[in-house]
Amino acid sequence: MPIGRLMPENSASGSAYRAFQDLLTAYRTSRVLMSAHELGIFETLAHGRDSARGICLKTGMDIPYGSRFLNVLVHLGLLDTQAETFALSEFSKCFLVKQSAAYQGRTLEFEKALFDAWQSLAQTLRQGTRVYGVTEKSTEDYKASLSLYLGAMDNAARIRAVELWECVKVGHEGLIVDAGAGSGAFLAEFLGRHQGWRGVFCDLPDVVLLAMENPLLQAFGNRLAFQPANLLTEEEPAMACTQADIVLCSNLVHCQGKEETQGLFFRLAAVLAENGILIIHDFFTDASHGGALYDLHMMLNTYNGRTYSVSDLCAMLTPFGLTHHSVVNLASGSTALIFSRKEMGADRFVDVVR
Ligand SMILES: C[S@@+](CC[C@H](N)C(=O)[O-])C[C@H]1O[C@@H](n2cnc3c(N)ncnc32)[C@H](O)[C@@H]1O
Repeated sequence: MPIGRLMPENSASGSAYRAFQDLLTAYRTSRVLMSAHELGIFETLAHGRDSARGICLKTGMDIPYGSRFLNVLVHLGLLDTQAETFALSEFSKCFLVKQSAAYQGRTLEFEKALFDAWQSLAQTLRQGTRVYGVTEKSTEDYKASLSLYLGAMDNAARIRAVELWECVKVGHEGLIVDAGAGSGAFLAEFLGRHQGWRGVFCDLPDVVLLAMENPLLQAFGNRLAFQPANLLTEEEPAMACTQADIVLCSNLVHCQGKEETQGLFFRLAAVLAENGILIIHDFFTDASHGGALYDLHMMLNTYNGRTYSVSDLCAMLTPFGLTHHSVVNLASGSTALIFSRKEMGADRFVDVVR
């Protein structure tokens, strides 16, 4: 239930006030996580358990203050403690150390940069236009921001790609086009699972150049083609290929306004085979509380990006004959909408497991 719907009169235990306090102070836990990462506590403990004194000396914390901070990390479940020593919890070992495949270091760096944008929320709402990060970037700053952005996308995509492809069962061979492929994590996970498939990595030219240098993607050899394209402005169908069995559009529809997204769908529908599926993986305003908040994230950090409801997308895809859809809510909080022109039956190569 949304926190604000908890009514004090229905809550003799006072849980509504506790929910209010949690809402009010949510930033504190985020700051604790960010500071522990910034201080290098997780990396220090990746080498083994240590005393409070040892950790404080290695990370540059004052010993009395640092010891109190370590106690908080234990309460949050980020560290375990035993015999006056501290060690990483299983949760931290998974997400917070470089050695883990699920490491979220780039996501943490990116979120740190977003913090300032969120401070400008009230001003943005009053002004009705983006106020944060509007000054022109130098080439160096642009390159650094692109790398940070793609790194954060990659950290999240590696987790969600596994979740998504677990739900989509496909035949032995086919063609998948990833529109706005970013780091290529979704494509890499898919092509790794399905050896008979070929893929097309499609994104803006700068992003394609970076992807072509990525050894993880190079390993697919001629099974993977690279297609630089601006999917929002090309007059003609932007991609050389057609007849794709799967077109994936992950976290791209929220980057711009509705009119541009409608143009994007025109171009994606043009490359989709008659029996193919279009997968829109994103956050939707009506799918979760996180999806609704994501709309504000776009308001603060893009010129006209926004999130949509599931029914908005159904209406936007109907003109392209994509009238059937399934909804797959992924465990980590995002949603995949799987569109097709025909009802998905047993004769189809793709099956969605919900
Ligand atoms: C939020 S990222 C998502 C990356 C990846 N699909 C994922 O889910 O992790 C959006 C991607 O769309 C690409 N993109 C944005 N505008 C685009 C456009 N006009 N044409 C092609 N790609 C675009 C960006 O470069 C970026 O790689």
